[in-house]
Amino acid sequence: MSLVTVLPLGLELEVDDGQSVMAAAHAAGYVWPTECEANASCGLCVSIIREGMENCGAMPDDERETLQRTMGAVDPSRRLACRLTVTGPVTLTKRGVHAAEEV
Ligand code: FES
Repeated sequence: MSLVTVLPLGLELEVDDGQSVMAAAHAAGYVWPTECEANASCGLCVSIIREGMENCGAMPDDERETLQRTMGAVDPSRRLACRLTVTGPVTLTKRGVHAAEEV
């Protein structure tokens, strides 16, 4: 289990080994921006890694392809939360993350 801090909300998520950051947020009762429901195709879950880049898991092919298509280039500091796994503390920025009961 690793801790991921989500800014600007200040949410601290416990992410299990092999679990995506987005799945951990859903399990904790939070909504993460998406249109593809975590299929690595919409690009809306993209997040900016602020700290702990060395703790981010390898980028899978489907994430790389979507980042290339939606952002025009692959930048290691931009990761899809629906594919991002972590092995240690990470701080990232993602606007639009909110508790499920909020609008
Ligand atoms: S949720 Fe659509 S690309 Fe991650």
